[in-house]
Amino acid sequence: MRSTHPLVAHDTASSRLVRALRGERQEATPVWFMRQAGRSLPEYRALRATGGDMLDACLDPAMASEITMQPVRRHGVDAAVFFSDIVVPLKLVGLDVEIVAGRGPVFAEPVRTAEQIARLVAIDPALVTERGEAVAEAVRQTTAMLAEESERRGEPLPLIGFAGAPFTLAAYLVEGGPSKDHLGARSLLHADPAAWHDLTHWLAEVTGRFLALQVEAGASAGQLFDSWAGAVAPADYRRAVLPSSAAALGPVRALGLDVPLIHFGVGTGEILADMASIGVDALGVDYRVPLDVARARIDLDLTLQGNLDPALLFAPADVRAAAVHDVLTAGLAARAHVFNLGHGVPMDTDPQVLTDLVRTVHDWRAS
Ligand code: CP3
Repeated sequence: MRSTHPLVAHDTASSRLVRALRGERQEATPVWFMRQAGRSLPEYRALRATGGDMLDACLDPAMASEITMQPVRRHGVDAAVFFSDIVVPLKLVGLDVEIVAGRGPVFAEPVRTAEQIARLVAIDPALVTERGEAVAEAVRQTTAMLAEESERRGEPLPLIGFAGAPFTLAAYLVEGGPSKDHLGARSLLHADPAAWHDLTHWLAEVTGRFLALQVEAGASAGQLFDSWAGAVAPADYRRAVLPSSAAALGPVRALGLDVPLIHFGVGTGEILADMASIGVDALGVDYRVPLDVARARIDLDLTLQGNLDPALLFAPADVRAAAVHDVLTAGLAARAHVFNLGHGVPMDTDPQVLTDLVRTVHDWRAS
């Protein structure tokens, strides 16, 4: 282990989050939220109103690090999750992509035909690393701010880096934008398996380098987001999706830093055992499958992460408290548990509800 990496230099290896991911059950369950940084926070909206579009904000180190810190300071969560987006590495290699508010990533040119795919995969994925200095600098500024915040809190605070899995990226790229059932990507996988293979393995290298960039610059954990993997039939998932997801972890493994890794998707009840099989430390489960049921569906003794239905953020406090108790109780079936929502924080969430939720999770004990 490199002594300058925060796992050692800031002792994030002994943080609640990293210990739990590595399999040590913590007295107080660690908690963070997917999309904890973002439009649910007035301080985020104020900062973003100062100008620039979403992807430019991601590549502005001062802005990205400050946004990453906002939910850590406000909610008292156990980790920061790097403010960026899954399509940032595609912008870095030169694709014309923007995030359209209220919709999501939109590409100027969809990549569908064998010819378009051949042109795309001719782009060198090493460009992500070569042009990623703003990402690395944002990570360095964030870990320095986390070290200061750790002093105040009296415990180490890790940064979670992330990347989109190839299927989820392909779901946007093939359609040219968001779609309901990702029919474009799912059709291509059957219509032209060779082109699909080339596309997803190129994406694995591109997105894998994005994750490695964050880990090398100081992230103490990493999450592979395959948000839309649940759209694929299980046999197709195993054959045509999982191999490129496993490949996406190659660049981060090659660093030899041994950071814990999490694999997450939505609607993945039928493929949890497959998702667990690619050498990760933790499996992120959405809200449709209780954690004890998820545990029974996988052969490996991994840490489980999840999985309060985000809809409960809008329920009366007593109803939410009962649901949180159920999630934490089901989480006892795993070797260790990291509390999260079953998907991202909705934009109209009352931030105070999240702050209170962190306290409830930390105070809970198995009885
Ligand atoms: O979780 C975090 O707080 C870290 C930052 C983060 C963002 N996007 C910030 C963001 C992470 C981890 C992501 C990942 C991401 N991006 C995923 C996988 C996770 C998931 O939610 O399933 C996906 C599918 C995307 C693509 C994407 N980017 C979508 C669908 C959207 C929403 C578009 C909208 O306006 O509703 C984005 C934009 C985005 N990414 C925002 C944020 C804070 C909102 C941007 C804004 O301020 O307008």
